[in-house]
Amino acid sequence: MSLLVKNIGLLVGIDESGRLRVAGEAMKSIATLPDAWLLTEGTRIKDYGPMEQLPTETPSSTLDAEGGWLLPSYCDSHTHIVYAGSREREFLDKINGLSYEQIAANGGGILNSADRLHDTPEDELYRQAMERIDEIVSMGTGLVEIKSGYGLTLDDELKILRVIRRIKENAPLEVRATFLGAHAVGRAFKGRQRDYVNHVCDEMIPAVAAEHLADFIDVFCDRGFFTPEETAQIIERGAAYGLSAKIHANELAVSGGVEVGVRHKALSVDHLESMGDEQIQALKGSDTIPTMLPGCAFFLGISYPPARKMIDAGLAVALASDYNPGTAPSGNMRFVASLASIKMKMTPAEALNASTLNSACAMGLSNDYGSITRGKVANFYITKPLPSLAFIPYAHQTPIIKKIVLKGKLQ
Ligand code: NIG
Ligand code: FE
Repeated sequence: MSLLVKNIGLLVGIDESGRLRVAGEAMKSIATLPDAWLLTEGTRIKDYGPMEQLPTETPSSTLDAEGGWLLPSYCDSHTHIVYAGSREREFLDKINGLSYEQIAANGGGILNSADRLHDTPEDELYRQAMERIDEIVSMGTGLVEIKSGYGLTLDDELKILRVIRRIKENAPLEVRATFLGAHAVGRAFKGRQRDYVNHVCDEMIPAVAAEHLADFIDVFCDRGFFTPEETAQIIERGAAYGLSAKIHANELAVSGGVEVGVRHKALSVDHLESMGDEQIQALKGSDTIPTMLPGCAFFLGISYPPARKMIDAGLAVALASDYNPGTAPSGNMRFVASLASIKMKMTPAEALNASTLNSACAMGLSNDYGSITRGKVANFYITKPLPSLAFIPYAHQTPIIKKIVLKGKLQ
């Protein structure tokens, strides 16, 4: 099977260097080719070039982009899309002035979602999650990470992770699973956080690993949730079972999560709404990708991460949606990139690099995803003709996507 896309107005996001991430000043550039074609073979990108050098071989099928642009699919390295129902009640509480922490302390928040998930059969959970998958695919996402963390008991954590496995097997996009048993202390362990942490380490991690249900491990390392010491204990145990770490850090306070993540060579530290200069320094020289989730700051009305400071310090930052029922009920990566430009002063090119190559890197997958590169997975979308790259985040609600190709297949 091969697919030739011709008459591409602008081929965007080309990388011929094979780099796994793009950092600092270099984030401002995006390589492009005007008036181009692109050829896939099987699930991969085979070749591309200018229209005057169209390949002579006959492909299995041809697609005319009619002057529209071709961009690499978004990579969303942080979501919680397997959840039951929705949480508008808390949305109203927030409107009436309660903070995220107050809502959580009143038994809302993550525990509320855990109760609902417990009462929802696995098939129904899968059905609801697949609706969200269809939604993010239609908005241009081609690679997504999905966390557990709304189970908080062994059985319910396994239930979510099995749903994620079913999504992996059936969805057209690529999926990675993260075990987030330490998202909050499960109800049965109320007041016994230490015992819950031991339960996560001694019972949950081995059970998850026995079924090969997770690729990564995560901990909510923040004020009122888990400490850096508990985080270290959990991710060390995860590492013993081959799980790389991705950490929720510094959403509610400077939590020590960044430092513990860097020390343990985490793939990423995510959120970063509360960041001091020391945390930025801690990230310099490490391979850990600082990942920002501006949809969460937008929804909660909290401060945005200091993206400019991080990029100007030479870091390779990533963007992700955090799609979840409590703090970011949307998986629209284009809107995330718009927020990055509007609220965090990232240029459109920086936001595109952060939501493609660098977010693939935050899943350890930038070898195969995140740019238009010969040999990488053929994950891309074709837009209508656009006036400029800046138009994409600028006209953030104007529909632009006309065709989507995932793993070489037209959707
Ligand atoms: O990434 N911060 C922790 N976890 C989620 C929110 C979970 C919830 O409120 O349901 C987040 O924002
Ligand atoms: Fe999250």
